[in-house]
Amino acid sequence: MFFALQPRLAVLSDINADLINTYCLVRDRPAELIRRLKRLPVDKSTYDRLRASDPEPPVERAVRFLYLNRTAFGGIYRLNLAGQFNVPYGGGERTPEVLWRRDLLATASRVLADADVRHADFELAVESARRGDAVYCDPTYTVAHENNGFVRYNQRNFSWQDQERLACVARRAGERGAAVVISNANHASIRRLYKGAKFQVLERYSSVSTDVSKRRQVRESLVVIGPAVV
Ligand SMILES: C[S@@+](CC[C@H](N)C(=O)[O-])C[C@H]1O[C@@H](n2cnc3c(N)ncnc32)[C@H](O)[C@@H]1O
Repeated sequence: MFFALQPRLAVLSDINADLINTYCLVRDRPAELIRRLKRLPVDKSTYDRLRASDPEPPVERAVRFLYLNRTAFGGIYRLNLAGQFNVPYGGGERTPEVLWRRDLLATASRVLADADVRHADFELAVESARRGDAVYCDPTYTVAHENNGFVRYNQRNFSWQDQERLACVARRAGERGAAVVISNANHASIRRLYKGAKFQVLERYSSVSTDVSKRRQVRESLVVIGPAVV
């Protein structure tokens, strides 16, 4: 997902049509989404039924997206080669309830009220950034987290050519005077790609794995290009 924040206009852009549809519905009809989500039992058979469904009305697609996101194992979003969501049921504490108990949808709706939400490739959003804008890019990682030389290509979701294209448009936006921040893996190939940029290494706990031994602290990079970001 890619944000370009300007003084009065926020642009939020992603290539995933279901995600962007959900953002639009969260912005415009949060109460209706909550009403519909509350009617859905949280159990495996409802999960399996929704996962297999392919509704057309935008509001139903958004309800399906939010329900699956909140009840899927680890909150993972993964499609198979046929483009079907294939994450297993999470069970336990994974329920959509937090969306209304902590007012998350209502808050997100207020934050998105004036946002220009676009279904588009990142290049369009980043190319529109000008002096004084702040841009945050959260691309799909192409390489594994650790700095151990191991490169796990994620060619189908975000190819290395996409990483190079992003680095190129980010540099151009920086030259125009926009401040650009990109989160990515803490990996030598990423440091080479953004040679000359500022790097900040952050640590976080990664719990997204069925294999408990793979849940651990991981290091990630924030790449900063252009004027100082406050
Ligand atoms: C690491 S995820 C970030 C998700 C986001 N932080 C969120 O929680 O909604 C990477 C995102 O990049 C998007 N993406 C992949 N290729 C893209 C492209 N060419 N243009 C725009 N967005 C893209 C994916 O659809 C995905 O939502």
